[in-house]
Amino acid sequence: MILIIDFGSQFNQLIARRVREHEVYCQVEPAGFGIDKIKALKPEGIILSGGPSSIYEENSPTIDADIFKLGIPILGICYGMQFMVHTLGGKIARSSKREYGFATLNISDEQNLFSGMDSSLQCWMSHGDSTESLPGTFTVTASTQNTPIAAIADTKNNFYGLQFHPEVEHTHQGKEMIRNFIIDICHCEKNWNMESFAHTAVQEIKDAVQDKKVIMGLSGGVDSSVAALLIHKAIGKNLHCIFVDNGLLRKNEKEDLQESLTTHLDLNIKFVDARKIFLDALEGVTDPEVKRKEIGRLFIEVFDAEAKKIEGADFLGQGTLYPDIIESKSAFGGPTSIIKSHHNVGGLPEKMKLKLIEPLQLLFKDEVRQLGLELGLNEDLVWRQPFPGPGLAIRIMGEVSEKRLNILKEADALILEEIRAAGLYRKLWQSFAVLLPIKSVGVMGDKRTYDSCIAIRAVNSIDAMTADWARLPHELLARMSNRIINEVDGVNRVVFDITSKPPGTIEWE
Ligand code: XMP
Repeated sequence: MILIIDFGSQFNQLIARRVREHEVYCQVEPAGFGIDKIKALKPEGIILSGGPSSIYEENSPTIDADIFKLGIPILGICYGMQFMVHTLGGKIARSSKREYGFATLNISDEQNLFSGMDSSLQCWMSHGDSTESLPGTFTVTASTQNTPIAAIADTKNNFYGLQFHPEVEHTHQGKEMIRNFIIDICHCEKNWNMESFAHTAVQEIKDAVQDKKVIMGLSGGVDSSVAALLIHKAIGKNLHCIFVDNGLLRKNEKEDLQESLTTHLDLNIKFVDARKIFLDALEGVTDPEVKRKEIGRLFIEVFDAEAKKIEGADFLGQGTLYPDIIESKSAFGGPTSIIKSHHNVGGLPEKMKLKLIEPLQLLFKDEVRQLGLELGLNEDLVWRQPFPGPGLAIRIMGEVSEKRLNILKEADALILEEIRAAGLYRKLWQSFAVLLPIKSVGVMGDKRTYDSCIAIRAVNSIDAMTADWARLPHELLARMSNRIINEVDGVNRVVFDITSKPPGTIEWE
């Protein structure tokens, strides 16, 4: 396995993705991760990530210098390289200027990390400080016009450093550099794939749960569905899933889920019809945070009441993914908060004294999708766009009523139908309808109308932390607008949201 030490780079998860693309398992741990823990993991190689700090800053991230005595190959990227050079006796020059963007890398030593590469290729730079002199055992292996020491190697100790970022797409052959490090230099075995993962995970769940019961809340999203399938594979009917129908779901969502997970995959799911409870509670509520809190509170109440009916449950299953875990552990820089008050089933374990089973906690989202397909989940569910816990309530500006919910559901279904037909559903991060709190005047068939307005929201994103509004083709927008106005009763105007995040958020509330 490869151990990645997170020095706070926005790209550290990308490094992990790259390693796993070569079917090698890796783990990201924060700066300061103890040397004993490192030894216990028995990594075959260590990657020190980049980061926004200068090694001269007070409290800049570090790792025990004894890692350089372990006899394990080490690759330092950007700040990671500077940390290595500085720690081993070289000199880093401070700079107030940042070098940022594309540069041409001229490789002088086409071996090891650069084996099989072109002698000149494009790389991506993002750094302030740079290396001025090297520790005696190192040589320079590549340079750029602005950065004479752009790559270094100490082949005797198998220490390598790259001032640029091999993990980003902008660096040509960066993936191969990472491959050369993990396969040729560290001699890692290619044994990380979803089939072997599922096999091990099922055995681990069996050992942990034995003949006890697991409760699990399903949201309709891919994470909880895949986690449930994996647990189901291990313990069968001892997995008790609960799906709370809060009435704030998209059109046909519950039925699709029922068909896919119960009929085809035989999951044991209790569908709780709580539509009236949620609608009653939301009556007259217009403040977004009050809506969210109320929905969160009710969800826990309903789930809790249902869970208590299941006797002898010792465990709670959750679909937590690896990025959530990395983020909560990240000591430097990394995005540590998820902006709005998201509710999942947090809070429950403590109250109910349940132990957690989180079988996806080592996986990235695309690995979860792969695993879902492996476990027989249908493609629609596997590729489902994210949907927020509070559901359509936060896409209805103003009061949530049954009538307004129905308008939104119909408009939303039409948007998704057209987005799918245009082949854009998987390409977009999210695409949906928002119902605005205003009415406007229109004219239809010679008659004056005074009806509601729908906003179309479509965004591209890789992690929801930032997002760009999608440049949908005008013909597609025209079709969606026509269909919504003609087919959805109560709507006479459609607008398109052209706000990115930041400054907007993806959802409107
Ligand atoms: P925002 O609107 O904050 O959304 O840009 C970022 C991403 O998170 C989703 N989202 C939620 N997901 N519970 C969830 O499980 C929530 O309360 C929640 N609020 C927003 C949103 O759909 C987008 O993908």
